[in-house]
Amino acid sequence: MKWAQTLERPSASILEGHDFADHLVNAGALANRNYVGVFDPRHRSIVGMEQDVRMTSSPSLDVESVRDDTPACRTQAYLDGAGAALSPTVVTDAVIKHLRREQEVGGYVAQFEAEDRINGALASVGRMVGVKGSAIALQTSATAAWIRGFQSIPLEAGDRLLITTAEYASNVLPMLQQVRRRGVVVEVIPDGPDGTASPHALADMLDDTVKVVAITHAPSQNGLLVDAEGIGQVLRNANSQAWYLLDACQSTGQIPIDMTTIGCDFLAATGRKWIRGPRGTGFLALSDRALAELEPVPPDMYGSTWHGALEYSSNRDASRFQSFEMSYAGVLGLGAACDYALNIGLQPIRERINSLALHLRNELAEIQGVRVLDRGTQQSGIVVFACPGSDPVAKAWDLQRSGITLTGVTAATNPAEHQGYAAQCVLRASPHIYNTEDDLHRLVTALRN
Ligand SMILES: Cc1ncc(COP(=O)(O)O)c(C=O)c1O
Repeated sequence: MKWAQTLERPSASILEGHDFADHLVNAGALANRNYVGVFDPRHRSIVGMEQDVRMTSSPSLDVESVRDDTPACRTQAYLDGAGAALSPTVVTDAVIKHLRREQEVGGYVAQFEAEDRINGALASVGRMVGVKGSAIALQTSATAAWIRGFQSIPLEAGDRLLITTAEYASNVLPMLQQVRRRGVVVEVIPDGPDGTASPHALADMLDDTVKVVAITHAPSQNGLLVDAEGIGQVLRNANSQAWYLLDACQSTGQIPIDMTTIGCDFLAATGRKWIRGPRGTGFLALSDRALAELEPVPPDMYGSTWHGALEYSSNRDASRFQSFEMSYAGVLGLGAACDYALNIGLQPIRERINSLALHLRNELAEIQGVRVLDRGTQQSGIVVFACPGSDPVAKAWDLQRSGITLTGVTAATNPAEHQGYAAQCVLRASPHIYNTEDDLHRLVTALRN
């Protein structure tokens, strides 16, 4: 299945959409089968993971002290880590402290004074994904980061860009624009029987025309965790020169990530979700190869220098992908959030979130009329389910008014996948380390009533 458009037919349909939608409807059907092994709809329970379903927390993760650090989690059941997680107090304090200083001495002086802490924040961000601070370009969002990476890849007519069935709209749209503008082709890697992009199918699709492989690590609209490392291995085995873009927006902060082991060239993430940083923050991490070979489009005077006349040069490190203007209060908050997570440890965080998510899937499966929609054998902390009702956004607001915060899933993030759910009311709950079994119980009770 291809998304293609010849340049001669600029107004023709760019998406052989029926193929894609049909495919995902099939993927949805497949997804139902894939509950077996993880989540079995026939028995309405999680199979083979009983030991994980119990609430676990590692010795380094003291849930009560995490909750003390997160005052708002005691006043509600906040189940929206995948939307915008609750920040620990230390993060909010770092932001406010810097804003106060900006008020006292002005933004530039405050930045100058905070230079060491800003560099420290950069290093902490790097540690979240296993790279040095010099490989990080700070951004305002995951979308901004992803676009900064994508735009730097030279593309021409006929180049093939491979994506998965679970992509995120803001990543797909820039690719579709290149379909229109340059005549590139977007192709979807079919899912394997486990409901996630098949490494074998990917291996078969690879040749010299593949210029981009773009994967969403933890999709927003299902609980899947894509095998990013396996995909990197396939690219390495094939000696592919394709640029590997990883959207780690929903995975960074909830699982340990090592960008070098994965082997991706770009990793895009946001601050406000699982990292628990402030809004308006994000970052792009770059591989050595991307740093050696690619130029940001367009360059910005933060990381590039105009030498007069037609001459300019760019920094060798990732700063050339960063922009001059930045909320340094946000950057310091992001650094504090990374330090907080790193101090706890990403493995204990992963275990805690995973056990809460598994527990929730199990509980939801017991409710008449509720259908858990997550697929894949490796799953994230995102729990997506269909429930009675016609308007997911209104339903989410209703729950919010009763002290339960989660998100209504609409078709906007991935229309074809949404169609495959064959449900009008789809909700997403995404527990973080500050949540308890009681929070999950509140949601389950509200849905039962
Ligand atoms: C998988 C995924 N990628 C990218 C984004 C975009 O993140 P941001 O809003 O920070 O640009 C989101 C946001 O929900 C997402 O879920």
